Amino acid sequence: MLTIKNLQKRFGSLRALDDVSLEVEDDCIVGLIGPNGSGKTTLFNVVSGFYEKDGGEIYFKGERIDGLPPNKIVKKGLCRTFQVSKAPEKMTVLENMLLAAEHQIGEDPFSALFLRARVQRSEKQI
Ligand SMILES: Nc1ncnc2c1ncn2[C@@H]1O[C@H](COP(=O)(O)OP(=O)(O)OP(=O)(O)O)[C@@H](O)[C@H]1O
Ligand SMILES: [Mg+2]
Repeated sequence: MLTIKNLQKRFGSLRALDDVSLEVEDDCIVGLIGPNGSGKTTLFNVVSGFYEKDGGEIYFKGERIDGLPPNKIVKKGLCRTFQVSKAPEKMTVLENMLLAAEHQIGEDPFSALFLRARVQRSEKQI
C-alpha cells in the first residue's frame, strides 16, 4: 500500500532521513519505533507532503505521491495526525470538529460574502 524508496531529507548538514526504504502492506497495522531524534516525525512529514524530500520516491497504492501537497495526498486516502495535537482555542469543540469536513463552500470568500444562506445550509448539514 505504501512504498518508500531511498528517501532523503536533510536539515543543513544533518541527514534526518538517510536512504530510508520501507514497505507497508495492505490490511495491516504497523508501528515505527526509534530513539528520540531518529527521524520518525520527519518521515511522516515528508510522506504526508508537509516537508519536501531531498531524494527518493514515495508510492501510495501504486501511485507516486512525492511532490504532491498535503491536500492532494489526503484526498488519495493518506492522512496523518500530529505528534503535538492542537485545537484552535477560541473555537468551541463543535466548531473544531466542523473543520474536518471537506468541500466547505464558506471557505470561498465570494460565497462567504454573497451566498450566506447556502453557506449556512451547508454548515448545518455538516
Ligand atoms: N524542521 C526542522 N529543522 C531542523 N532540524 C529538524 C527539523 N525537524 C527535525 N529536525 C532534526 O531532525 C532529526 C530528526 O527529528 P525527528 O523530529 O524527525 O525525530 P523523531 O524520531 O520524531 O524524535 P521524537 O522521538 O523525539 O519524536 C533531529 O535531529 C531533529 O533535531
Ligand atoms: Mg517525533
